[in-house]
Amino acid sequence: MNVLLTGGAGYIGSHTAVALVQAGHRVVLYDNFSNSSADVVRQIEKIVGRVVALIEGDVRDTTLLVEAMEQHAVEAVIHLAGLKAVGGSVEDPISYYANNVQGTVSLLQAMQTTGSRTLVFSSSATVYGVPRYLPLDEEHPTGATNPYGRSKLHIEEMLSDVTRSDAAWRVACLRYFNPVGAHESALIGENPHGVPSNLMPFITRVGSGSLHCLNVYGADYDTPDGTGVRDYVHVMDLAEGHVAALVFLSQTAGWHAINLGTGQGHSVLEMVRAFEQACGVPVRRVMADRRPGDVAAAYAKVDKARQLLGWEARRDLNEMCASAWSYQLAQGDQTEREQK
Ligand SMILES: NC(=O)c1ccc[n+]([C@@H]2O[C@H](COP(=O)([O-])OP(=O)(O)OC[C@H]3O[C@@H](n4cnc5c(N)ncnc54)[C@H](O)[C@@H]3O)[C@@H](O)[C@H]2O)c1
Repeated sequence: MNVLLTGGAGYIGSHTAVALVQAGHRVVLYDNFSNSSADVVRQIEKIVGRVVALIEGDVRDTTLLVEAMEQHAVEAVIHLAGLKAVGGSVEDPISYYANNVQGTVSLLQAMQTTGSRTLVFSSSATVYGVPRYLPLDEEHPTGATNPYGRSKLHIEEMLSDVTRSDAAWRVACLRYFNPVGAHESALIGENPHGVPSNLMPFITRVGSGSLHCLNVYGADYDTPDGTGVRDYVHVMDLAEGHVAALVFLSQTAGWHAINLGTGQGHSVLEMVRAFEQACGVPVRRVMADRRPGDVAAAYAKVDKARQLLGWEARRDLNEMCASAWSYQLAQGDQTEREQK
């Protein structure tokens, strides 16, 4: 299948591109590089051993999207382009709604024009808001606590309306929990611009010494050790979930919300200790105040993914930490080579 990946040069997009090519699909990456760079595409090509099509552009540019989709005879889209920092969305909601919501409207218009009706959307566990019960199943009421989450929810609702208006649409909203880790080659991984807002790249940068110390936001939550609990899932497992979603959508029309997680919750301190054990590197940390909008604990019920997609996460915490660290070390080597 010819698959367009918006945000394909990003963290999840690059790993998904590898999984898709290895499953026999042809991919076209579409990215404006606002949080990534074209170098990632070279790294993907090294892993898969072939040239990968790349278009530099913004998802709000409907004309360019239509051209890209026609040129590459795109049959399905995996939509990952968007902004993702909760704090950033509180400070600048307009950019979040413009990139995420307006970007998706533009993509849907391009898909309508070109006749492509199969879409996998990168949604998030954040659409569940403050958990009323755990584990979170897909029937849990939705209700976001910040503009980022609300943008995801608006998009999910828009997609649901679109599938109701025309039975040809096939849409999977994959609700990711907390992707971490990197491809085993250490050629691609999570490398955000600026100070990371996610836990694992923060830990690895403290481990490498490029950041001084990890702030643990909240040590007084109602959790076993007081720190926040999340469902960390290896990014390659997540990537394979997208391949499974395309197979599912080739057999099933309509709108589907599906959790992608492991079903296991781990606290921040557990993650830090797992990292120290897997990588043999100490992580300096300080306890800090809770961040507004963070919830105490969130982890997934994963039965629906197992039943509909035949997918479940296979990689453990050790693999998540070790691969993230290998990628961080490779980044260090890369910087040294560039400086010489
Ligand atoms: N990483 C997570 O923890 C997580 C969790 C849940 C959901 N998600 C969602 O998954 C998607 C991918 O996340 P990621 O972690 O790979 O983030 P990322 O920032 O690494 O990747 C997003 C990519 O989209 C590109 N992009 C942003 N706005 C664009 C635009 N207007 N036009 C074209 N390209 C644009 C960026 O340059 C980047 O390469 C996002 O939509 C995010 O909200 C991520």
